[in-house]
Amino acid sequence: MNLEQEKEKRVQEIERVIAGYMPECTGYQKTLIDAMQYSIQAGGKRLRPMLMQEAFRIFGGSGQAVEPFMAALEMIHTYSLVHDDLPAMDNDEYRRGRLTTHMVYGEAMAVLAGDGLLTYAFETAVKAYQYASSDRFARALSILAEKAGIFGMAGGQGLDVEAEKKSIPLTEEQLLFIHEKKTAALIQAALMIGAVLAGASDEDVSRMERIGYYTGVAFQIQDDILDVTGTSEELGKPVGSDEKNHKETYVTLHGLEESIRDVEAMSMEAVGILNGICGDTEFLRACIMQMISRRK
Ligand code: IPE
Ligand code: IPE
Ligand code: MG
Ligand code: MG
Ligand code: MG
Repeated sequence: MNLEQEKEKRVQEIERVIAGYMPECTGYQKTLIDAMQYSIQAGGKRLRPMLMQEAFRIFGGSGQAVEPFMAALEMIHTYSLVHDDLPAMDNDEYRRGRLTTHMVYGEAMAVLAGDGLLTYAFETAVKAYQYASSDRFARALSILAEKAGIFGMAGGQGLDVEAEKKSIPLTEEQLLFIHEKKTAALIQAALMIGAVLAGASDEDVSRMERIGYYTGVAFQIQDDILDVTGTSEELGKPVGSDEKNHKETYVTLHGLEESIRDVEAMSMEAVGILNGICGDTEFLRACIMQMISRRK
């Protein structure tokens, strides 16, 4: 398998799914919907929908049930980025290779675009009702809500912001909490929802949650590393954002070398759990391994 070619092919299909579920830019809400479209159409790696679709496939899922959830999760992820870039948060001007949403539409509209994406995500996920059993549908919806909200991504962002604004020195436990919640939670949601919709056993869903934890925390450590060692051309977002905000990251706490080693160790931990799953896990394994050395 040529991983790059395979990913490119899948991204094209994911783009079609996302675009198909986005609202039309009409009516008096046109500018708001334009702002939502602007942020989501900018692209990005589409990692979360890709992981969700793959988990669905690994556990034998077929049909369309996963598609509304793939689009919904990317909407939630994109909203998190729009808000994360606001002046009140990380105050960044570039994202996904273009100006951030607030730079183009203003802060108020960017706040609303985030609100719009978050809410529309649930309007979209609900459309899976016609394709999935009510039991699987309800579990998937509840995972999406929990992993996005106060016990997931938003909760992690909360402590992240609090630590930065109050300049509280973070303990190791707090930093891991932030990384788990702000980043791993949506990756866990991707893997768990795909598995649940395909009818995976509780044991396998819990394996997916653990794989998502290690992959997600490793992903955020690598993001912290790339904020120091990456280039804005490769990343499509500014480097040095964390330093500018005097943010404590995995790199400031552990140093670059140890951070690099921990990305690898956590990714290997994820692969170890994946090896316990029956089925064709080759693509997922390759994706996790590739994240160790990602430059964007
Ligand atoms: C960026 O996520 C925010 C983090 C959780 C580190 P991605 O690196 O997946 O961003 P896109 O979707 O490719 O733009
Ligand atoms: C944010 O982490 C993760 C989100 C939930 C958006 P960062 O603030 O490090 O993400 P980037 O570097 O801006 O993408
Ligand atoms: Mg941030
Ligand atoms: Mg940021
Ligand atoms: Mg970052």
